[in-house]
Amino acid sequence: MPAEIIDGKAIAQEIRESLPARVAKVEEKLGFPPGLGVMLVGDDPASATYVGMKEKACAKAGIHSRQVTLGAQVTPEEVFGHIDDLNNDERIHGILIQQPLPPQIDTEAVCAATSPEKDVDGFHPHNLGELLRAGTAPFIACTPRGVIELLERTDTPIKGAKAVVLGRSNIVGKPAALLLLARHATLTICHSRTEDLPAVCREADILVAAVGRPKMVKGDWVKPGATVIDVGTNRLDDGTLCGDVDFDDVAEVAGKLTPSPGGVGPMTIAMLLVNTVESAERRAGLA
Ligand code: GUN
Repeated sequence: MPAEIIDGKAIAQEIRESLPARVAKVEEKLGFPPGLGVMLVGDDPASATYVGMKEKACAKAGIHSRQVTLGAQVTPEEVFGHIDDLNNDERIHGILIQQPLPPQIDTEAVCAATSPEKDVDGFHPHNLGELLRAGTAPFIACTPRGVIELLERTDTPIKGAKAVVLGRSNIVGKPAALLLLARHATLTICHSRTEDLPAVCREADILVAAVGRPKMVKGDWVKPGATVIDVGTNRLDDGTLCGDVDFDDVAEVAGKLTPSPGGVGPMTIAMLLVNTVESAERRAGLA
């Protein structure tokens, strides 16, 4: 029987529709709405597209956004100066610095320079450390948080399930793994150097694919009935987008499956808005 398709777009929409009422309460308390500072550095066209989508989503939710756009040759001093500005701007409750950054800019230092109280990406060492220590944090990275929302909102049992995370990035794989572990999954993290990846993935009741390799996960990598969350967004030579999962092949085997595009991607944006609103609520004494 073909898999049930998890409609990330619809779930993200539902979450986004819940935000304007919360935004209004913040505005009532503070006298201004929640604000997101968005920094785009360099000329990566995909980053420009993502940033544009994030700003549009903010506007729709009633969240103020302040954009800082810097050229590819920008100096570290300029970048850190703008981060300080955003850290000190009382109307800004969340700061998003789109990655990847140009090579002269130290990404780890940028994450550490962002105020941990405005770290809507969840990349600051304090928030990552809290996630490791406590299984939760004031800010959880948007994509992994979106993965968990998809599982929970589709009533996918996590407790006691065997979860396999394919990929070990700081942005997705590692935080997704920690969130699954905190919900009592039996966890395996695997990656490009794991021996016999198909056999490891086939153990999973929940498979989260976040390796950035187009259509890598095939039908015979998946346990019949498993839930497969495809985090990948890869551009093929013909310009089309696809996930890390071979959708048509896996749809024949999985119990539930996210499409890509249309699965995790919209959730990442929804979670960014939620993180921003939550941050403003904390500042307003509403949470
Ligand atoms: N680049 C790819 N995904 C992300 C993300 O979630 N946040 C930021 N800041 N950059 C990214």
